[in-house]
Amino acid sequence: MKHRLFTCAAVALASLCLVCCNASSLPAEEPACGKTLILYYSLTGNTKAGCEALQKELGADIMEIKDLRKRSGKWGFFKTAIGSLVGKHTKIEPEKIEITGYQNIILGSPIWTGKLSMAIRTFIDRNRFDGKKVIIYTTTNAFEKEKYKEKGKNLVRKAGGDVVGYYQILAKEEVDGKKIDRTKEQIVNDTIALVPEIRRLFSVTP
Ligand SMILES: Cc1cc2nc3c(=O)[nH]c(=O)nc-3n(C[C@H](O)[C@H](O)[C@H](O)COP(=O)(O)O)c2cc1C
Repeated sequence: MKHRLFTCAAVALASLCLVCCNASSLPAEEPACGKTLILYYSLTGNTKAGCEALQKELGADIMEIKDLRKRSGKWGFFKTAIGSLVGKHTKIEPEKIEITGYQNIILGSPIWTGKLSMAIRTFIDRNRFDGKKVIIYTTTNAFEKEKYKEKGKNLVRKAGGDVVGYYQILAKEEVDGKKIDRTKEQIVNDTIALVPEIRRLFSVTP
């Protein structure tokens, strides 16, 4: 009797594990396996809107990485573009964070001069991602070429992370020959459409 009870409990526990660890079979509102942390930088709010939507959908934790340099106005934009172009780092807050409790990391960033933003590049450089699955989530005015995406992925790989995904959400679109800003709602909707795939990428592989 005691033995049968033990077997039933073991089978129930194993089934629970299988349901938890097979993200593709999860109903939409349940989180994928392992804890997820979203770390993002955003200057004008597009990446922030997308990352906040991901946080809600995935039930993840979220933290903003702040760039302590002034980047507003025409001069700020100019300095930012030049600094980014030459691959400069910046002053950020926080510089280092404790991520041992997380299995999955999403790094959210705008694209500046074909690269991840200075704040996110600086953050990657100051932290280690060993044993973590990492997804890079970007918002951008135009889709990047593969070789530029590869550079961003390589930064994370150098810091020990396993890059399992890279997403680009468009912040502008062409209407009647003119490039116009897409709404935050459009950015959020495009981002939410990625969630099933993100769940799958973050699920535990058999
Ligand atoms: C300094 C600077 C450089 C940029 N460089 C690029 C670029 O090279 N390619 C591109 O498609 N968009 C570029 N953008 C546009 C941003 O990637 C886009 O607006 C992004 O959605 C901004 O995200 P945020 O609102 O989270 O800051 C640049 C924006 C800034 C401010």
